[in-house]
Amino acid sequence: MKGIILAGGSGTRLYPLTKSISKQILPIYDKPMIYYPLSVLMLAGIREILIISTPRDVDIFKELLGNGDNIGIRIEYAIQDNPNGIAESFIIGEKFIGNSSVALVLGDNIFYGSNFGNILLESSNLVEGAIIFGCFVKNPKDYGVIELDQNMSPISIEEKPENPKSSFAIPGLYFFDNKVVNIAKSVQPSDRGELEITSVINEYLKLGQLNVHLAGRGLAWLDTGTHESLLEASNFVEAIQKRQGLYIACIEEIAYRRGYISKDKLVELAQPLVKTDYGKYLLELANEEQS
Ligand code: G1P
Repeated sequence: MKGIILAGGSGTRLYPLTKSISKQILPIYDKPMIYYPLSVLMLAGIREILIISTPRDVDIFKELLGNGDNIGIRIEYAIQDNPNGIAESFIIGEKFIGNSSVALVLGDNIFYGSNFGNILLESSNLVEGAIIFGCFVKNPKDYGVIELDQNMSPISIEEKPENPKSSFAIPGLYFFDNKVVNIAKSVQPSDRGELEITSVINEYLKLGQLNVHLAGRGLAWLDTGTHESLLEASNFVEAIQKRQGLYIACIEEIAYRRGYISKDKLVELAQPLVKTDYGKYLLELANEEQS
């Protein structure tokens, strides 16, 4: 399976923060926001990743992550010229996707939870159809929303409905089979002029090939859409990291634990960061007894 991170958009809801830089490069506590969705794909075992960004911002991601070689993955880059919607990712990424299935994660979505890594690994085994998640939220109106029947099977999907039929929002993490490219090409733009991801999901629902994984309380899905939620996300990451001494979205750690990079490489990557707790954490990892 291949992976796409969509890090586009104009970020106007976060102005003036995002007037001159991409939202997905903003800090969430101690690391750039894009580390979080990148770590999600890495935890799913995906090593070929396409980052899609705007013509203005793509270079900062290249500078940050390069070709992924340092952390044992392959990163390519592509441009979304205009904010034409999330589903356009599959059209832009058609060549990159090739014959593979594909996971898409939005560059501003942050996940943290027990057993989440296993759920991701299972989802990446997808052969046919689609897997989406459902997260219980207070403000479903702001998201794609899933209506469920008594058996908790999906019966409708709506994008930012005025009157949500449930409190289950669809977070920005989706797993699709290879049909998604043609489906994305066939859906019509919505009233707001975008190729909606919910339209693509609806096509899988019509085909009877939509699997919904309802996340329980153990999964935190954090919003980064407002100044307030951005700060809350930072505070959340800080609290967990301080208390546990275990880092969230530490891409070097994932690469090391997955065996993508050697201990020597980990130490090398830590060197420019040694003035920070992040760098010290990497060195501690390198000094751990390997189990
Ligand atoms: C997008 C999707 C929506 C999804 C949300 C998750 O909304 O259109 O279905 O629930 O991401 O973050 P947007 O952030 O573009 O408003």
